[in-house]
Amino acid sequence: MKNVLVTGGCGFIGSNFIRYLLSESDFSGRVINVDRLTYAGNPENLAGIDTEFKERYVFVKADICDRVAMSEVFDTFQIDTICHFAAESHVDRSIAEPDAFIKTNINGTFNLLELARQNMNHLVLFHHVSTDEVFGSLGSDGYFTETTAYDPSSPYSASKAASDHLVMAYSRTYGLPITLSNCSNNYGPYHFPEKLIPLMILNALEGKPLPVYGNGQNVRDWLYVRDHCRAVWLVMQRGRRGETYNVGGRCEMANLSVVELICDTLDEMVPTATGSRRPLITYVKDRPGHDLRYAIDCGKIEKELGWLPEESFKTGIRKTIRWYLEHRDWVTRIKTGAYLEWIESHYQM
Ligand code: NAD
Ligand code: TYD
Repeated sequence: MKNVLVTGGCGFIGSNFIRYLLSESDFSGRVINVDRLTYAGNPENLAGIDTEFKERYVFVKADICDRVAMSEVFDTFQIDTICHFAAESHVDRSIAEPDAFIKTNINGTFNLLELARQNMNHLVLFHHVSTDEVFGSLGSDGYFTETTAYDPSSPYSASKAASDHLVMAYSRTYGLPITLSNCSNNYGPYHFPEKLIPLMILNALEGKPLPVYGNGQNVRDWLYVRDHCRAVWLVMQRGRRGETYNVGGRCEMANLSVVELICDTLDEMVPTATGSRRPLITYVKDRPGHDLRYAIDCGKIEKELGWLPEESFKTGIRKTIRWYLEHRDWVTRIKTGAYLEWIESHYQM
């Protein structure tokens, strides 16, 4: 793996992955980060990387749906490996406006697969990053395994399911060397503040209401983003080609408990004169098609590759809160839209 194309590298997980790959892993090649810079893509997430790794990092602003632009990327940088993160990723947005999800998540993935197929003679790997949401909802017990049937509920998860099927089909039909990972909800630094955890941290700090959907008893299995990045790199290096691996944090929590823990941790780290932040919790209308519970059995990646999450939710949430406290400027630039103005002035939108 000499020239690794990372798609969506300016997003939450992609930027953490690039930082991990260049700063912490044994990877010695070059990263080519292709990102369209949608509202969720923020070059500031990689501040310093371009200077620190001048010889080993390239950024190209492009849309993965653009066959001509992407073909040029493959040729110019002699791409031999792809780690595909780029996607529209927010369930609520997919319910309100599904179009972009179909375009990027399905057509964009198809586009990359076609280019990978055309470059088969020197392709080492196409790794596809997906979600446990493709499996739909669990009841109060049981776990998702790699053989659980797909049963997506939202336009987001349906589009990811379609992309997973395409990736698998390219492996079976054309022999494309692929690996696939389906992970649970990530959290950590650079998480865009529309998702549950950063939204609650920032609202709680500002004394704003904390909107909990329905009765707050929906369960997610929280995975610290660095643990996920370690898993992706391990699967890319040693995962069996043509296989999928589930990745979870072994941290099942009801949403209400997550929000309460955030309130209590903030109360301890940044006390207020008015006392507990828990009274900010506000129950709001439920999300349509809201999956009740996600929980991952990550026995396969544990047994085959020796991966284990290092972070518990208690330690991970503390690190995450500290990161948001120490990066108030990053937050302000997102909240005021200044990051979009910066992108516009630098990339001629
Ligand atoms: P994100 O929304 O933070 O980032 C997505 C990135 O993709 C952004 O930088 C955006 O600009 C870029 N992008 C979007 N459309 C593009 C296009 N057409 N061409 C090029 N770039 C484009 O998402 P994330 O949370 O970092 O998720 C990354 C991947 O991981 C996604 O594939 C997502 O489905 C998957 N995943 C995420 C989670 C999670 O908890 N965040 C869980 C499981 C799986
Ligand atoms: P989210 O972070 O959007 O991730 P996903 O939908 O991919 O799991 O939501 C996590 C959980 O939190 C989900 O059950 C919906 C719930 N939620 C709220 O209760 N309030 C909110 O404001 C948000 C954004 C999510």
